[in-house]
Amino acid sequence: MSWLISVIGVGYVGLCTSLGFTAKSYKTTIYDNDKSKLNLLRNGLSPFFEPNLEKYLQDAKQNKLFVIANRLKEAINTTNLTFIAVGTPSKKNGTINLKYIKQATKQIGKALKTKKTYHLIVIKSTVTPGTTVNIVKPLLQEYSNKKCGQDFGLCMNPEFLSEGTAINDTLNPYQIIIGENDKKSGDALEAFYKQLHQNTVPIIRTNLSTAELIKYANNAFLATKISYINTIANICEKIPRADVQTVAKAIGLDNRISPKFLRAGLGYGGSCFPKDLQALIVFSKQKNYKPTLLEATQKVNNQQINHTINLIKKTLGSLSNKTIAILGLSFKPHTNDMREARSTPIIKQLLNQGAKIKVYDPKALPNAKQIFKNQITYAKSAKQCITNTDCTLIVTEWPEFKKLQPPDFIKHMKQPILIDARRIYDPQKFTKNMKYLAIGLGKQ
Ligand code: UDX
Repeated sequence: MSWLISVIGVGYVGLCTSLGFTAKSYKTTIYDNDKSKLNLLRNGLSPFFEPNLEKYLQDAKQNKLFVIANRLKEAINTTNLTFIAVGTPSKKNGTINLKYIKQATKQIGKALKTKKTYHLIVIKSTVTPGTTVNIVKPLLQEYSNKKCGQDFGLCMNPEFLSEGTAINDTLNPYQIIIGENDKKSGDALEAFYKQLHQNTVPIIRTNLSTAELIKYANNAFLATKISYINTIANICEKIPRADVQTVAKAIGLDNRISPKFLRAGLGYGGSCFPKDLQALIVFSKQKNYKPTLLEATQKVNNQQINHTINLIKKTLGSLSNKTIAILGLSFKPHTNDMREARSTPIIKQLLNQGAKIKVYDPKALPNAKQIFKNQITYAKSAKQCITNTDCTLIVTEWPEFKKLQPPDFIKHMKQPILIDARRIYDPQKFTKNMKYLAIGLGKQ
């Protein structure tokens, strides 16, 4: 079968997935209700920063593989495999907002009504278990007046890409999860992925709701691993000369544990872990199960903020009128994304306690300006940021911060006090002529 792909929603997942397909020479038609995003893409620009993304976009356009549809109906009519990758933001109570999923599903259902040929619909957005079978399927059937499993297919296929490495993750996934409404739908999607990855990636086939849960289970596990190592880090700080980095390295060598996601620090942020963990907790409680472990993961993550502020206070005493340099604002390096970034609550609390804040980030300054306006000072470089400050706090481990050496802090700061909340410096080098405190580092 030859695949003509469409992707509805060009947020992070939608656009990176589309460009993963075009990079493998599959013509892909995209559509989004937000016309400003489509216009940016028409001009070869990405609506968000992601390394190499614009290069992939340029190649795809040059090779005539990237088609931008003006209407959703056009995207459905000209293709036979549609991925729904619209956003599923959180509601105030932590549950997910299915507004965009419902909107897209209804529009797709209407478009399917006049189609004569089989069409496979695939949910890529993160949705809580039961959503595809209880909400998407009935809406598609109602609006198309067709039967799911017979006239059109339906699968749930979660995405595991990480920001900063998104395209590479799409091109080289660890695994592919196919939740299927029926065997024909699952067979079709499996055939597509086998062709796309030339049979090199393990494929797990299951039902729709299990596939939905796998995505949450994956993210909740990784978040729990981070809170676990942060717990060990906090214990290390109570033990003279103990260092969480050595502990993480050692336990990571046990291949039952693996070294990944054992970087202690300020904790996790971003558009996925906090939202997905909260959604899974609320979902479980609605089903009358209290997920104690997941609640603890969340609590430990929140506590890392106060824990870090206490590290600062330990050296500075009162924060009133002290100037603190914040290096890094994005939720992790190689992105300008500040959604749920640890920098935001840290800065808010420091401001509340009377500190003056100076910040620098290689990519996220425009986003930070929208949040903090003129409450804080924005520097043009890391060195300018630390100049004449009382304390420097590393919030995001951008590679350029790793190049700073003790003399840079000694020369530029009022007093060289460095709080390394992402463990990017070598304690042996940094504890000699300056005050260096780090998460997970016992008294040296
Ligand atoms: C995550 C998942 O990794 C991805 O599979 C899913 O599809 C979306 O959510 P992402 O949010 O892009 O991806 O970032 P990730 O690299 O997982 O990091 C999330 C947060 O955890 C960041 O704030 C990062 O700084 C933090 N983190 C990560 C740690 O604090 N320690 C670690 O060891 C790893």
